[in-house]
Amino acid sequence: MSSHSHDACCDHAGKGNHTHGNHAPDSAPRRDFLLLTAQAMGAVGAGALLWPFVDSMNPSADVLALASTEVDLSPIEDGQEIKVMWRGKPVFIRNRTPKNIEEAKAVDISILRDPETDEARTKKGHEKWLVMVGVCTHLGCIPLGNGAGDYDGWFCPCHGSHYDSAGRIRKGPAPKNLVIPPYEFVSDTKVKIG
Ligand code: FES
Repeated sequence: MSSHSHDACCDHAGKGNHTHGNHAPDSAPRRDFLLLTAQAMGAVGAGALLWPFVDSMNPSADVLALASTEVDLSPIEDGQEIKVMWRGKPVFIRNRTPKNIEEAKAVDISILRDPETDEARTKKGHEKWLVMVGVCTHLGCIPLGNGAGDYDGWFCPCHGSHYDSAGRIRKGPAPKNLVIPPYEFVSDTKVKIG
């Protein structure tokens, strides 16, 4: 019995052990085996943990189909706002009144936490339209619109962030203005978001 395990030991560790001139202690290959097993399990464990994460990063087919979305603006009247979904996020589209635009342009941007002009947040020739991702830049709640808050814009009730009529942060904990997604006018009454 013992000679059998001795042979097994020599066969197994033959190449490495000859350099020592002695047989390695029985425990050496065993340690290697345990180590390898642990590494293999580690790899499987990491793979199992990693997969759902990686998988969730891959856009599913329906999300890919909505990588860009076209919206007809013609039914949205002056002062009205709609919400559309784009890549799983709400996007607010507001048809601003002249008063909304005036207020937004009148702001001295040096007082803003995230200074941006109204012009920078709209498209030339289409200033009445404001297109923004409707996710609060504080912790991701969806703000209330239609002139909510102290600045005739949007208000996030989660922790009290007020955005103005250009979607810029004016009061409360949110650090940034509401995000403008990539979009373009494909006609006077149609935008393509994404
Ligand atoms: S998530 Fe909007 S204020 Fe906190």
